[in-house]
Amino acid sequence: KTGSKIKMVFTEKQEALVKESWEILKEISQKIACVSSPLLEIAPAAKGMFSFLRDSDGIPQNNPKLKAHAVKVFKMTCESAIQLREKGKVTVADTTLKYLGSVHLKNGVLDPHFEVVKEALLRAIKEAVGEKWRDMNCTWVEAYDQLAAAIKAEMKEEA
Ligand code: HEM
Repeated sequence: KTGSKIKMVFTEKQEALVKESWEILKEISQKIACVSSPLLEIAPAAKGMFSFLRDSDGIPQNNPKLKAHAVKVFKMTCESAIQLREKGKVTVADTTLKYLGSVHLKNGVLDPHFEVVKEALLRAIKEAVGEKWRDMNCTWVEAYDQLAAAIKAEMKEEA
């Protein structure tokens, strides 16, 4: 499932930047909230997918569960970036992938939503890391893309 990905080797500088930005983001946890509201601004349809948001009015600015999802996505993307560096590809454990495939399928998540989450995630990282962004943006993009591709492939298999 994850075998057909482009092999990509990161420099140690890039890996260090990824780890460093993880630290930065842990500290500035408030920034992570930025991931969730742009998501709902860009794609109001995504709101209906989150059971805990369905009945709320407008765009929730600081929903803790949505924030928790953003943190999970960020953490997994971070791990993926490190795997890319170490193994040249993203490998998600089979059980995790199966679980994530079914959760997202069940909630009606579609391919275009992954692009929306990607945009929101990258925007938040960019905001948090400032000028370092230029040196590492392709690392994040590649890591997210491979992770999302693995989940999407699993969703298609289960559908
Ligand atoms: C749940 C990861 C993309 C919507 C989850 C969970 C994880 C996760 C770890 C929690 C499962 C649990 O703890 O029970 C990811 C990753 C993504 C991604 C790594 C991208 C690479 C998306 C996208 C959407 C989405 C694009 C749609 C906008 C949801 C929903 C849930 C969920 C609706 C269930 C939340 C709930 O109702 O409790 N995701 N996700 N995810 N995700 Fe994602």
